[in-house]
Amino acid sequence: MKRIGVVTAGGDAPGMNAAIRAIVRTAVFNDLAVVGIERGYAGLIEGKIHSLDIRSVSGIINRGGTILKTARCEEMKTSHGIQKAVQTLKDYEINALIVIGGGGSFRGASELHQACGVPVVGIPATIDNDVYGTDATIGFDTAVNTALFSIDRIRDTATSHERVFIVEVMGRKRGFLALAVGFAEGAEFILVPEIEFNLDSICEKLKQGREKEKASEIIVKAEGAGDSVKVAEEIKEKTGYDVRLTILGHTLRGGAPTAQSRILANQFGSYAVDLLLDGARKNMVGIRGQRLTSVDLDDSWKRRKDLNKRLYRLAEILSS
Ligand code: F6P
Repeated sequence: MKRIGVVTAGGDAPGMNAAIRAIVRTAVFNDLAVVGIERGYAGLIEGKIHSLDIRSVSGIINRGGTILKTARCEEMKTSHGIQKAVQTLKDYEINALIVIGGGGSFRGASELHQACGVPVVGIPATIDNDVYGTDATIGFDTAVNTALFSIDRIRDTATSHERVFIVEVMGRKRGFLALAVGFAEGAEFILVPEIEFNLDSICEKLKQGREKEKASEIIVKAEGAGDSVKVAEEIKEKTGYDVRLTILGHTLRGGAPTAQSRILANQFGSYAVDLLLDGARKNMVGIRGQRLTSVDLDDSWKRRKDLNKRLYRLAEILSS
């Protein structure tokens, strides 16, 4: 192995740049060359490649986004797209690939490996934290703290106006982000795609809270847990309370990565290069507690990560 290709794919996440920096500097330390692939798999298919050296990655550890840019790429889901990507690997003599992204990106990496045998290592980076095989993904901690920055402020005005606020966070399919944010915020309710909820029961508990002179109510809701506008309208209709909806959306995808996101990115980036040097063929780096781990890349996108139901139940108890 002489040359590693690095690509950031799927939704961006704060800390991706720190991971790119760690990959480049660990590779150069081991006398390996690194090339950056621009705009996700689209850049691999189109051959948008440029060299990266230790100076290319100066001053980026604290920057959100990705210097390589990213894009969602439907063509990579076709055999023609895969073949064009394989050709680019050959043309640029890329002997190994590191993919920084989420489960969808790792599926493409697995298919690329299957097509040509190129060693691939995935680095889990998504604010959703929904990747099997790791307790944490790069960017998740930053998104949680970005959400809390806003919701702490919403709590002030909700209290002043005695309003119910529904705050929608990202998480199209899974509720890891909503659960962590709601738990840390002390939200009265947390709505996630994985757990059915009953609005009549929620409204009854809201009324009980008001009887106990609760100062405000915050409902943190994952975007994948139903239509947020309809939920707000139904609660207003059923309770008669003043209800507002705030959608945090893509604000959760940007910003300077937190220390935790940077530390995770530094470790994952360096470990990915070490795995390739040790002969890894199709792996994803991860963390269990404080211990770095490696799982089969196929498991990362084929297997489903469980939501922490114990945490969900504890959040209900603590918000009473
Ligand atoms: O990266 C994951 C994610 O942020 C989801 O939580 C969200 O639903 C989706 O990406 C948004 O995708 P896009 O940025 O392409 O609109």
